[in-house]
Amino acid sequence: MTLPENFLWGGATAANQVEGGVLEGGRGLANIDMMPCGSDRKKVAAGTMKMLEWDDNYYYPAKEAIDMYHRYMEDIKLFAKMGFKVYRMSLSWSRIFPNGDDAEPNEEGLLFYENIFNELHKYGIEPLVTIAHFDVPLNLIKKYGSWRNRKLIDFYAQYARTVLTRYKGLVKYWLTINEINILLHQPFVGGGIVFEEGENQEEVKYQAAHHQLVASALATKIAHELDQENKVGCMLAGGNNYPYTCRPEDYQEAINRDREGYFFIDVQARGKYPNYALKKFERENLHIIIEPEDVKILASAPVDFVSFSYYSSRTVSAHSEDYEHTTGNIFGTIKNPNLPSTEWGWQIDPLGLRNSLNQMYDRYQKPLFIVENGLGAVDVPDENGFIDDEYRIDYIRKHIQAFKDAVEIDGIELLGYTTWGCVDLIAASTGQMSKRYGFIHVDRDDEGNGTMKRTKKKSFYWYKQVIESNGENLTSDNISTSIDTTVK
Ligand code: BG6
Repeated sequence: MTLPENFLWGGATAANQVEGGVLEGGRGLANIDMMPCGSDRKKVAAGTMKMLEWDDNYYYPAKEAIDMYHRYMEDIKLFAKMGFKVYRMSLSWSRIFPNGDDAEPNEEGLLFYENIFNELHKYGIEPLVTIAHFDVPLNLIKKYGSWRNRKLIDFYAQYARTVLTRYKGLVKYWLTINEINILLHQPFVGGGIVFEEGENQEEVKYQAAHHQLVASALATKIAHELDQENKVGCMLAGGNNYPYTCRPEDYQEAINRDREGYFFIDVQARGKYPNYALKKFERENLHIIIEPEDVKILASAPVDFVSFSYYSSRTVSAHSEDYEHTTGNIFGTIKNPNLPSTEWGWQIDPLGLRNSLNQMYDRYQKPLFIVENGLGAVDVPDENGFIDDEYRIDYIRKHIQAFKDAVEIDGIELLGYTTWGCVDLIAASTGQMSKRYGFIHVDRDDEGNGTMKRTKKKSFYWYKQVIESNGENLTSDNISTSIDTTVK
């Protein structure tokens, strides 16, 4: 058998993309609740269009999402039926600290997640918890300017200490901040940053990044102090950059672009700033305030494992303007002529996953965890309501084969694999429901219509078989297309 017996198979979601119930249970509002559907979503995400109140002219999909706030028991039961060993989920910060700077946490919010963890354990599913997934309480943005302000370190640390204490014994696997490098590309999503007129945006982003890095190290330190069983990971929006040609300057561009992401993981995994980042600050005249105590905190708490999302590789060139571009997870890329694309233009590259695993293992020598991977696609049910999503199976199968090769042939250490959006959810980039990732279909459309009914897709049965065989049986030949898809 290629994979270890305790390999953690499962799926992943984030609070803001599934829960809904944004005004229930004493929850406060957060940056991510303010992300509208439509063409302005990008500007809000970039921090260049201020939207800190709901506006009746827009539709905000996070308000109801897929209503997991009320339906988590049903969803967890389905995850258990697929045989999940792990479920990656995030906590909503503002469900626990509604204003972010409250003296006491919101008990109702704490209880909500405690119930979820108990429900997961009932089925033998280990929770993998992201403390902040694109999530900052709105009050911290309005009152303090969000992560640009050093005070956020303490607010986050208080939040982290609260949940690490409360869920001791219930949760062992933690991620401090989802896709921490997203802060550089979508500052409002990654850090609640809204830019002010005339400020140096690069400086603001890197100062906020520094605060997040210190906060992440503090959470790691607290987790280790509270319980030696805790395993804490960092989380990168992954996918390496290929040089478009073998011109040396294209290769150099690929190295530089990889470093934009590695910068964060270098700090979190090694406990100090890499020289190339310090030189960048100097060269570009970025005045980043790094206190002497920050250096000590960073050094004191490197993470236990490195996790990342992988959807695609990217292609870059020093002469980028000469080529056709396409979209990708957050970052755009030059279109790689050797790769097929999804309906959303994201390029499909399973071997890129194996190469990413190798690069990261060579660089950090720490266990790795693939915490997001999957295919966003339009699903069309047949006349009986069945979704034959062989395209999704094909995508995931090839990526599983790629990481199995990385384990078997290259010897990398891999803790687990959680597919993104194991149940259909709101897409982060576009806010759409029609960009579906799930093994479980949710009756909900892009305008918020639908019954929220859950239905099993073909991939549901296939993934169950994959988990049962610990990744040995990847075929879908034996999966009938006339199975009962109703949820019982
Ligand atoms: C990652 C995020 O960037 O990619 C998820 O961590 C997100 O929150 C996922 O949903 C897929 O992106 P999208 O835009 O297709 O939802």
